[in-house]
Amino acid sequence: MLDERGRQLWTYEEPLRFFGVDIGRIMTVVRLSSGGLFVQSPAELTVELREALDELGAVRFVAPASKLHGHLYMEQYRAAYPRAELLAAPGLDVRRADLTFDHLLGDTPDPRWATDIDQVAILGHRWLTEIAYCHRHSGTVVLGDVGFHVDETSPLQTRLLARALGVYERVAPPIEYRLTVTNESTFRRSIRDVLAWDFDRVIPGHGEIVETGGKAAVIDGFDWVL
Ligand SMILES: [Fe+2]
Repeated sequence: MLDERGRQLWTYEEPLRFFGVDIGRIMTVVRLSSGGLFVQSPAELTVELREALDELGAVRFVAPASKLHGHLYMEQYRAAYPRAELLAAPGLDVRRADLTFDHLLGDTPDPRWATDIDQVAILGHRWLTEIAYCHRHSGTVVLGDVGFHVDETSPLQTRLLARALGVYERVAPPIEYRLTVTNESTFRRSIRDVLAWDFDRVIPGHGEIVETGGKAAVIDGFDWVL
């Protein structure tokens, strides 16, 4: 049920409709050197998904991309894995006051996952700070709404929507996000921090995974700010 990507990395794609079009949503799982699992953008914890996760190891950290993306179903993980820590992106602790978070994510990875995962806070947007991650061993960048990616393998309706949003065949945020970047130089610095990572694959929050050539796809998608 989980797609194995190699080097202790797995993904799981869940359907999601956006403007009435199926664009999907991707969850990422990293097995840390310590043996525990780091789950980013958790999917609904069905019996099948739980069994698949339990086969890989113990869920230790559950992380969102932002206060908007990747926090759904965290309550299910809290209930199923009482020892796991829920991590909050900026503002998520306020948005999800029903949850108690164990850690507030910023620009620096916690030592408990820093060996395996680096992170950058994408700043400069009017009201949304997203945390981008890099799984070092597989050279994979993991994004949320800052990185949509739709390509020719997607259904026609999805491709048409992606063209309208400016996210077709490139890794980029939808146009309304782009128009609400208020501090361009700060945003540029954050994207350059992402590009400084050694990576080839990009897992977008929505759409299709870029298995290779991910850095070029990000450069293309952010040419308006770089
Ligand atoms: Fe999203």
